Amino acid sequence: MYLYNSWYVAGWDYEFSRTLRSRTLLEQAIVFYRKQDNTLVALEDACVHRKLPLSLGRLVGDRVQCGYHGMEFGCSGACEKIPGQPIIQAKAKVKSYPVVERWGWVWVWMGDADLADPELIMDVPHYDDEDWGINRGPSMHIECHYQIYTDNLLDPAHVNYVHLSTLAGKENSGADAPVQVDIDGSVITASRWTLDGLPAPLFTQFHDYQGGVDRLQSYQLRLPSLAVIDMVCADANTGAQSGGGENRLQLNSYNFITPETADTCRYYWFQVRNFKPHDEAVSAQLTAGFKSAFAEDAVILKAVHEGMKHSNTPHINLAIDAASSNARLIMKQLIAAERQVNH
Ligand code: FES
Ligand SMILES: [Fe+2]
Repeated sequence: MYLYNSWYVAGWDYEFSRTLRSRTLLEQAIVFYRKQDNTLVALEDACVHRKLPLSLGRLVGDRVQCGYHGMEFGCSGACEKIPGQPIIQAKAKVKSYPVVERWGWVWVWMGDADLADPELIMDVPHYDDEDWGINRGPSMHIECHYQIYTDNLLDPAHVNYVHLSTLAGKENSGADAPVQVDIDGSVITASRWTLDGLPAPLFTQFHDYQGGVDRLQSYQLRLPSLAVIDMVCADANTGAQSGGGENRLQLNSYNFITPETADTCRYYWFQVRNFKPHDEAVSAQLTAGFKSAFAEDAVILKAVHEGMKHSNTPHINLAIDAASSNARLIMKQLIAAERQVNH
């Protein structure tokens, strides 16, 4: 069950070219290509004749030609040529998807095309900010249901056990800090401040903290599956909680999950930071660090997916699950409301 009326990331903009590329989103195969003027097209990846994926065909100008009998489809999805017959049936049409490029990503609207408003695509403060740096990672194929992943993106508590060498406070500092949950419509935030604790290795790479630090981990999920994780680290008792703080390092991690099948999803991510903005070595160091941290998640989440899917004993929820339980409940309501409108 998916929420269709939403923008989902289909990939980095550089992944799409004049070569036909197939991606599966929400169990729908879509073929992407760029027109001769470089704008993007997203069409259902199945010919109306014998369902050969159009991605196995070729581009003829701005049309995609089926690789089996040569039907040609235009950018709207309508067939514009059928070899060997002069009449083109009205039904000779594949679905076309609204597609927009923003923040370096390709976004696809999976629901009612009339509702596809690019203004609904989330904002990324500091994306083009001279004083902030950015590092980007490769897209990752993950073997779990997308909600196993979005649970994880609302879960600061796992950091102390899964990411000991990167994101966790040194010596498990902060493991018992209480998590606060805030809900604003379809935006759920789980956050915790660790006060006068030890910094995370992520930040000690960039500043040699002499004493205790105040540290924020804020995990925000925008349903259905976009997450922003804000991390702040500053000298203790210097005002970090009110937006200041001595030696304040701040890093915002953008994490976009796109459902693929019931058992898989794709993970897209980048980070912006308020330190060493133009230092390419720092960007590379951060990308490498997050890549290995996210590889740690991938192993756990695949195993959790399998465990939950094949479980034959009950499981329980803990206090740390408040945010993800609420998120799942709101998702159910959003999906039910969408289905009601469509039926
Ligand atoms: S399968 Fe595409 S034209 Fe026949
Ligand atoms: Fe994680």
